[in-house]
This record gives sequence, C-alpha cells and structure tokens, in this order.
Amino acid sequence: MKIVVVGAQWGDEGKGKMVDRLADEADLVVRFSGGANAGHTVVAQGVTYKLHLVPSGIIVPGKVAVLGSGMVVDPAALFSELDELARQGVNWQGRVWVSDRAHLVLPTYKELDQEMETKRRVPIGTTGRGIGITYALKAHRDGVRVGELFVSACWDHLRPAEKEFLAPFRERLRPMVTDLVAFMRRNAHRDILFEGAQGVLLDLDYGTYPFVSSGYSAAGGAALGGGIGPRHIDKVFGVFKAYSTRVGNGPFPTEFTTGNPLGEKLREVGQEYGVTTGRARRTGFLDLVALRYACWTNSLDGLIATKMDVYDEFEEVQVCTGYKLNGQVTDDFPATVAELEAVEPVIKSFPGWKTPLGECRTWDSLPVKARDYLSFIESFTGTPIDIVSVGADRAQTIVRKSPWTRSSL
Ligand code: GDP
Ligand code: IMO
Ligand code: MG
Repeated sequence: MKIVVVGAQWGDEGKGKMVDRLADEADLVVRFSGGANAGHTVVAQGVTYKLHLVPSGIIVPGKVAVLGSGMVVDPAALFSELDELARQGVNWQGRVWVSDRAHLVLPTYKELDQEMETKRRVPIGTTGRGIGITYALKAHRDGVRVGELFVSACWDHLRPAEKEFLAPFRERLRPMVTDLVAFMRRNAHRDILFEGAQGVLLDLDYGTYPFVSSGYSAAGGAALGGGIGPRHIDKVFGVFKAYSTRVGNGPFPTEFTTGNPLGEKLREVGQEYGVTTGRARRTGFLDLVALRYACWTNSLDGLIATKMDVYDEFEEVQVCTGYKLNGQVTDDFPATVAELEAVEPVIKSFPGWKTPLGECRTWDSLPVKARDYLSFIESFTGTPIDIVSVGADRAQTIVRKSPWTRSSL
C-alpha cells in the first residue's frame, strides 16, 4: 500500500511523530518535498530526535528512508543531521537514499535567501535555508541536481566555488544516490509511506501566497516528488493540531491577539517554538474553514488530530466555522492575502474537558467533551479522524483505524 501523510495547516502539525508511528508497518519512507526548512520531531522511548532532511521513518530500525526528487538538499545540513543521528545511536548506514533528481542547496543560495528577505516590502520570515532560491533556480532551469555530481561532463561545468563546496560531500553521497524512478519501480510491491513537509497552507499554489514556502506541500506533490504516478497512491492523511500555529509572517484568521493570555498559554503548554529556527510560533484556535479546504485540496481519506492534551486545562476551546467578509459569511478559503486579512472568524465554543488525556489509548477512554470536539470536526469537514495524538511520545497515540487497514472488497 502507498500512503501519503501531509500537514493540513501551516506546518508543525506533528507529521514527524505520526510518520514515525506509522513507519512500523511500512517498508520505505519517502520525503517528497521541502528541505532543511522543515523540522520534524520524533520522541521514542524518552529520546527526542530532530529531523530536517532525513525522513522520520529512519528512527525505526531496519526501515529505508528516501530523500525524494521534490526535495532541495543542503549536503552540509544532511551530513550534520546524519552525524547527529549516529551520535544518538541511530544506525542509518545503508538505509538512506537520495534521489539523483533532487536539487542541491549551495551556500550562495542561502546567502541570497537571507539578503532578499531584507529587501522585501513585507518579509515572509523565511527560515533562511536557501529554499526559495533553490526552487526558483530549479524552475529557471539553472539549478544543480544531485546526480550531476557523478557525471564528469556535468561536474566539469560547475563553477570553481561550487566544486570546492561540493567536493567533500561527493564521496560520502555517492553510495546513497539512486535513480528514484528505477528505485520506486523495483519497490513497487512494497508498503511505502510518503512524508510531506510544511503544510497545505504553506504550499506554493494552495497556501497563503506569497507567505508560503516554495515546494509542493500538498498531497499532489507526493507523486511528483516521490517518483511514482498519482494512481499508485492508495490513501492520503492530513495531520492537524487541535489548535493552529504559524511561524513567520502572513495571514492567520484565528490568531489570538497579541497579549491574549490564551495565546501565551497555548505557546507555553504546547511548547510552540520552531524546531529549525527556535522562533516562537504564533498561536490561534482551530480554523475549520481552512481545515476543510485542506481536506479537499489533498483529497484526504482521514485526519490525524494531534496535541489534544495541550487543551487539558482550558475552560473552553473554540473553532472557526465561517469567515465574515464584506458583510457576508463564507465557508470558502479565499485566495488572496488581502481577503484573508479582512475576514472575521465565526466562532463556535466547546467546554474544555479539564482532564489529562496523556494516558488515553482508546477512543472510548477519551472524555465525552473531547470526543464531542473531535466529532464536530469530523462532521464539519466530512472526514473521519482515524488517529488522535495525546502527547509527544510515539506511544501516546490512539489509533481508531489503522491507515494500513485494507478495505474489504
Ligand atoms: P512537524 O513539523 O509536523 O513534524 O511537527 P514539529 O515536530 O515541528 O512540531 C510538533 C511538536 O509537537 C513536536 O515538538 C512534537 O514532539 C510535539 N507533538 C506531536 N504530537 C504531540 C501531541 O499530541 N501532544 C504534544 N503535547 N506534543 C506533540
Ligand atoms: P515543517 O515540515 C512551519 C515557513 C517559514 C516561512 C515560510 C517560508 O516542520 O512543518 P522558507 O524558508 O520555506 O522559504 O520559509 O514557510 N516554514 C515552515 N513553517 N513548519 C515548516 O516545516 C516550515 N517550513 C517553512 O517560517 O514563514
Ligand atoms: Mg516542524
């Protein structure tokens, strides 16, 4: 079976935790987009692993991790991440593959990314990892692909400074590089998990443009970036937090106003600080207009709710069920930043459950008020919540229906 896991909000929904949890039953995990802008956290047996480029399945012994063609790979960041994993006792040798069609991030691209940010009228707040420049050069057909390091006619064409930077990584990368298309064809019979980066609201086309990243975060990118055709994908799952966060600038209709104690409380209880940049994440309540938009643009078979435990002590939890815009209520997600900044959310409140959820392992053991909250999300979005996460640890997960379950004929 081929299963795709994407972020259904503005990133940091807990994709890393869920991919690690679901990797148990997969043979391979393929990351299909983004670069070292991502920060995916896995907590297993009390140890925290922070991944940026390497797919989250790497923590599960024996699983194969592939950096797909849709990724932009900074080789210095990749090897420092792999060295850190080895230091943490993860034996990754022979289990990590890199697509020959993935693009390389060079030091000058990072410098340019940072410099361009300072020149924008409204900065995006990029991670400064050279992501936008690398994807721009790819589209401009002036990028450098991983496979070119090993073809002398291509290598010879690189600029001296590029060769100087890349030379030390060439031999380390050589045994890890694969023709992804042939690799996926050989592995067509296997169970494969495709791991997204960022979230649909940061997708270049369907996100809150221009306050987006530059890769394809939506599920459509899994085929392109993962080396398969779209008909090979069996199921798509979207991970969302019980509330909303966003790092960097851009519209955020349900954001708590600055100084609102609920916003501060969410940030502290949920430890909402970026894995990659350490920046404080902006916080808000759950936006169901945006979540339903994510369900449609990703054709989600199921949702995965995370961080429900962060609301344990809240008196009340809120969701947004519509946007008031120009005197009318709409439940469509507008395309422009100007409209998104002008909308006023229509709010529905639920009583808090005031019970710790961290030890819950079944749907029935969740308090009724927590179940009511989740059931409302299911009915509003028309999408089942198949998994609920109640803590950062791999074990703190309620699986109502395993994504690997094959529907009976
Ligand atoms: P990703 O980018 O989607 O992989 O998410 P991040 O790793 O950037 O951010 C999610 C954070 O929430 C990480 O620190 C996770 O360890 C943590 N996390 C994931 N699921 C849960 C959960 O259900 N409860 C709590 N309290 N933390 C969680
Ligand atoms: P994961 O995979 C949250 C945001 C940046 C910035 C915008 C563009 O961990 O969910 P970029 O450096 O990509 O050009 O920055 O996108 N951003 C993320 N926000 N989670 C991420 O990844 C992100 N990757 C990029 O903060 O606003
Ligand atoms: Mg993250």
